[in-house]
Amino acid sequence: MKILVINGPNLARLDIRDSSIYGDLNYAELKSLIENAASTHGLEADVRQSDDEATIIGWLHSAADAKTPVIINPAAFTHYSYAIRDAAELLKAPLIEVHLSNPMAREEFRHTSVISGVAHGTIGGFGPNSYVLAIIAMKNLLSGAN
Ligand code: DQA
Repeated sequence: MKILVINGPNLARLDIRDSSIYGDLNYAELKSLIENAASTHGLEADVRQSDDEATIIGWLHSAADAKTPVIINPAAFTHYSYAIRDAAELLKAPLIEVHLSNPMAREEFRHTSVISGVAHGTIGGFGPNSYVLAIIAMKNLLSGAN
């Protein structure tokens, strides 16, 4: 089964972001990790990144129409994009929110997620492994295991 993995702004520049917060993988390596983990669990991940809110909203609309399950790291949009939240709310299949870091252990403005309320669940704080955990959770959700 196909799943869509959406990465928000600045995640394509993990090569120059703080590796003590976001881990050691660059974006290409993170993308491979996600694709391989999905394949290990019998899923086919379409992994995308955009710095543009409208592009992400368009992807969510298409996923809603196609009933595609979505894993999203909305990055900074997590904390303030009501437009992405409203688009995410349209999804028919499960939505899982992921973060490389643990936003709750960081600056106060990161403690709010406007996305969490429309997600099945949120996984954060495990570096790139957050995505692997999200894929396992998604696999279980899709197979009715939780
Ligand atoms: C992030 C956390 C956000 O607060 C931040 O703006 C990001 C990445 C994470 O994966 O830890 O860009 O979503």
